[in-house]
Amino acid sequence: MRNFMIKSVAVGAAVALALTGCSNDRDGGSGDSASGDAKGFAKDALIGVALPSKTSENWVLAGDLFTNGLKDAGFQSDVQYAGASTTVADQQAQITAMVTKGAKVIVIGATDAAQLSTQVSAAHQAGAKVIAYDRLITNTADVDYYIAFDNFKVGQLQGQALLDGMKAKKPTGPWTVELFSGSPDDNNAGVFFNGAMDVLKPLIDKGDVVVGSGQKDVKQTAIQGWKAEGAQSRMDSLLNSTYNGNKTLDGVLSPNDTLARAIITSVKGAGKPIPVVTGQDSEVESVKSIMAGEQYSTINKDTRKLVAETINMVKTLQTGAEPQVNDTKSYNNGTKVVPAFLLPPVIVTKANAAESYANDPKLAPLTK
Ligand code: BGC
Repeated sequence: MRNFMIKSVAVGAAVALALTGCSNDRDGGSGDSASGDAKGFAKDALIGVALPSKTSENWVLAGDLFTNGLKDAGFQSDVQYAGASTTVADQQAQITAMVTKGAKVIVIGATDAAQLSTQVSAAHQAGAKVIAYDRLITNTADVDYYIAFDNFKVGQLQGQALLDGMKAKKPTGPWTVELFSGSPDDNNAGVFFNGAMDVLKPLIDKGDVVVGSGQKDVKQTAIQGWKAEGAQSRMDSLLNSTYNGNKTLDGVLSPNDTLARAIITSVKGAGKPIPVVTGQDSEVESVKSIMAGEQYSTINKDTRKLVAETINMVKTLQTGAEPQVNDTKSYNNGTKVVPAFLLPPVIVTKANAAESYANDPKLAPLTK
């Protein structure tokens, strides 16, 4: 059983394999730890969707898709974003308001994984179901389901892409890298980092990959609030402290596209060659950067699919049945193992961009 809270740093390859195996098993168990007293609810019930602040394009898209998709499915919806600064308090108040208004399901993309136990407990007491969307909610028994792309796999794909990109430029190591991770209050940040380290750590231990600054701990690499300016200023400092002489920087592990572009901006500003930089989210500007040969990789986590699957879960709950999950082992939130429905993420580089985005009207034209 793997604890996916940020504190769990060491994750074995064997367990990772187990998760990969689970991801394809869409029929595996209905989640014995889910609250099983669902009686269903009205077809036009209110569904609350509480999303974090708009730290990447996927969150903007998710809000629109939930508003339209829930309406098309016949539900009333209340879709809210946490504000840009007082995010935790905003989201807590929004969830409380959804409970008061009688929402039957509350879908939550948590701003801070560990700060929602009071609100989700109130939701349960009022008879609502709670779905953690994209980001796990930790330290509470009051979360019924988790739906997300397989985020540990995202990290593994990023770690492997970093290696592949560096090898393509310089076939033999050692390779010098820097590591970045996301916001410490987002449970995903640690999961992405652990996934990447699952691939990179054996090479770091052997000396084939060298972290130039020595900053290898998730705490040293974190960027509060997933802010571009935070990543740019950390990269500026690293370039000044570690790469002001002749030392070459071969690669940077970046957990998402917003941070990847900030890192590239910093490197360009310093007049240095752009290293291999990873990313995630398939943001428009990053896809353009990949096609221009700057950013090396991104991850395709198709928000349209994730929202559609979440709405399917809501529809199933409406009938009083148990939604389908495909992982009942991996997502221990510190209090319980949350039954999860995981979708597979896809690595994208210039080589497979056209194929990966063929069905995406916004991104496909960029790859021509
Ligand atoms: C999401 C990523 C996103 C990040 C910042 C994470 O929880 O999984 O896709 O890049 O939040 O918005």
